Amino acid sequence: MTIQTPHNRSVDTLARLLETHTGQQLSEARRWRVETSLRPLLRNHGLRSLDDLVGVLGHAPAGPLFDQTIDLMLNHESSFFRDLAVFQSLKTAILPELHERNASERRLRIWCAGCSTGKEAYSIAMALKHMGDVWDGWRIMILGTDVSPLAIDEAKRGRYTQMEIQRGLAISDLLRWFTPIGEYWQIKDELREAVNFQTDNLLEPRAVSGDFDLILCRNVLFYFQDEKRQIASSRLMHHSHDGTYLVLGAGETLVGQDTCYTPCPKHGCIYRCNEPRRGSPTSDGSAGCGHATRS
Ligand SMILES: C[S@@+](CC[C@H](N)C(=O)[O-])C[C@H]1O[C@@H](n2cnc3c(N)ncnc32)[C@H](O)[C@@H]1O
Repeated sequence: MTIQTPHNRSVDTLARLLETHTGQQLSEARRWRVETSLRPLLRNHGLRSLDDLVGVLGHAPAGPLFDQTIDLMLNHESSFFRDLAVFQSLKTAILPELHERNASERRLRIWCAGCSTGKEAYSIAMALKHMGDVWDGWRIMILGTDVSPLAIDEAKRGRYTQMEIQRGLAISDLLRWFTPIGEYWQIKDELREAVNFQTDNLLEPRAVSGDFDLILCRNVLFYFQDEKRQIASSRLMHHSHDGTYLVLGAGETLVGQDTCYTPCPKHGCIYRCNEPRRGSPTSDGSAGCGHATRS
């Protein structure tokens, strides 16, 4: 049984703030780390304890202190080309199919929802470049969004440590796409200009408009309870059309009677949208994610 000390009550309050604002539930392991995660923030703001922080936030429930508190409790874990098998499927099957399907209009729209500090969106941009000049003359939009304004600031900056980059990125890509600046590596403008970033909460219909050919929403839905996952799921479906591909994290699923996505059996974690917003799933995607049409 958990003893309800003032400290535990403060952790409860902070966990509730996090869940109300982002939908993320703190796992038991992350609950234990709350104080450690927030310690630098307490120090910087001259606060002695989590109880003090909760007291201040009670009077000022928005603004930089609020953003920083939420940001430090969020899990921003990410890496370049995270889950290589997914990127292999994108490079060898999904992107070539989208290229063929959209050839007449030469338009491609990709959304990384919950993109953290940008590594996923930049990996997509690199994957497109790896395909050579086939995208020349196309209008390509890669949009990265995250609930955390601080993560989005870092994504826009595009500056990473050697350690961050080494997890997932081949040395050839490091040298091709980054410039060393002191102890950091700065993403080159060519790639930075290929991606747009903006703050967006998946639980609030706001910043993002239009539909997408490919949506990545990986390792975001995992800590949502069903009700919140359902809201996020309908948001993703709202931005889909017939044939949109959706990539989720391992073990993640959408929620909702009317989910229009069916899994692509050849490509784990990748789903294909059939008849968006209207409803019943079909088995169309099970043939291996081909024959897409545009609604
Ligand atoms: C574990 S990271 C995953 C990053 C990336 N998708 C990947 O798989 O490498 C989860 C990200 O989702 C963001 N996030 C959490 N709740 C969100 C919400 N309600 N709306 C948008 N982003 C959210 C977090 O801020 C965090 O940066």
